[in-house]
Amino acid sequence: MAKVAIMGFGTVGSGVYDIIKTNSEKLTYSTNGEAVNIKYILDIRDFDDHPEKELFTKDFSDILNDAEVSVVAEVMGGLHPAYEFTKSLLESGKSVVTSNKELVATYGTELLEIARNKNVNYLFEASVGGGIPIIRPMHQCLTANNIKSIAGILNGTTNYILNEMIKKGKTFDDALKAAQKNGYAERNPAADIEGHDACRKIAILSSLASGKTVDYRDIETEGITNITLDDVKYAAAMDSVIKLIGYAKLFADGRIYSIVSPMLIKNSSPLAGVDGVFNAILVNGNCVGNVMFYGAGAGKLPTASAVVAAIVGSVKHFERSKKIRWVNPETVVLAGGEDKSFAYFVRTKASADEVSKVFGKCEFVDNIVADESAFVTGEMAGSEAKEKFAKLDIVSSIRILD
Ligand code: HSE
Repeated sequence: MAKVAIMGFGTVGSGVYDIIKTNSEKLTYSTNGEAVNIKYILDIRDFDDHPEKELFTKDFSDILNDAEVSVVAEVMGGLHPAYEFTKSLLESGKSVVTSNKELVATYGTELLEIARNKNVNYLFEASVGGGIPIIRPMHQCLTANNIKSIAGILNGTTNYILNEMIKKGKTFDDALKAAQKNGYAERNPAADIEGHDACRKIAILSSLASGKTVDYRDIETEGITNITLDDVKYAAAMDSVIKLIGYAKLFADGRIYSIVSPMLIKNSSPLAGVDGVFNAILVNGNCVGNVMFYGAGAGKLPTASAVVAAIVGSVKHFERSKKIRWVNPETVVLAGGEDKSFAYFVRTKASADEVSKVFGKCEFVDNIVADESAFVTGEMAGSEAKEKFAKLDIVSSIRILD
C-alpha cells in the first residue's frame, strides 16, 4: 500500500482527495496492485466536519518525518512555504507531485536536480494545461523531435473571459466574476488577466522543449486587460478571434524566444475554436509536424486528475527517477523581440495617409468605430513596431499569430 499526503485542501487538493476515494480500484490497477492511501492532509484551516477529519494536520513535520509516506501532492500554490516544504520532502527521499506552476517556473531547475540526486520524482504534469497531458508527452512521446515552436492557450480564465466577450458580448468585469465563481481564476485574478499565469506555463514548456531553464522573468508578458469589445468586433470582421497566447520559438542555433500576448487568430486555425475554460497547446516538432493537445485547462477534477496520475507514476517508479532535467539558466541565450517578427492589427486616431507614411503599404480594415483607422501591418520585429507605434496616436495594437 502506498501512503500519500496532500498539502493544501483547496479546489485542487479536495479534487485529489475525491479522485483517490472514488477511483481507488482503478488506481490500484494502475500502480500494478498497490492501493493508494491518503495518510495526511495538510492545511492551516479547520475541517472538523470532514468525514475523515483525523487525516488533517497543520504540522508539516508529521508528513516529513513519517517514513511511510512516499509521495506528497503539493497543491497549496504560491512560492512559500511550498518551496521549503518541497525541498525538504525531496531531500528526505519522498517524491513530490504538483500543480504549482509558479513554484516549478521559479525553482524547477533546483528541485528537479534534487529529485535526480535523491532518485525520487518531482512531477508537474498538472502545472500546465490542467487536465491535459502535455508535460509527459513533450518529455517522452515527442522526445525524438527538435521542437520548433509552441503556441498555446494556457490560461482557462482569460480564455473564458474572452469567449464570453466574443460570444455573449459580456463586459470584461462580468465575465471575470463568472470565471471566479466557477473556481477557474487564481486567488488573485491579476495572475490570470495580466498574463502571469500563462507566462509561468510557457516558461515551463519552453524549458521542457529546450532542456534549458527559461526564466519566466525574461518573458515579455501582456495580459488581456486592454482588450475591448471593439477589438473583439474588429477581429470578428476579419474572420478572426482574439486569444491570449503563450508562444515560444526555438531557433536552430539554440536560442529561445518566448512571449505571452493577446493575439489575433484566424478562425481556420485549430486554436480559434478552443472555447470557454478549455486550453490547447499546438506543438511543432521537426519530425512530427504539428500536434495539438486539447482539454480542460482548469477546474477541480481535471487538474486533480493530472495530479493523481503523477501520484500513480511516482508510486510505480518508486526509487527510480524519471530524470527530467533543465540546465542552468546561465547557459541559456534568449532571443529578443528583434529576432521574431509579427504582423499587427492596429487601431489609431491617425488618418490613412498618416498611417501609410509611417507603415508604408498596409492593409486597411473597414472602421467599426468612427474617427479612427484600422489596419494590418506587414511583419515587423518588436523594436521596429514600438518605434512606429510611438509616431501615431494608437488606440490598440494586437499581434497576429502566423
Ligand atoms: N487560473 C488558472 C487558469 C488555473 O485559469 O488557467 C489553472 O492553472
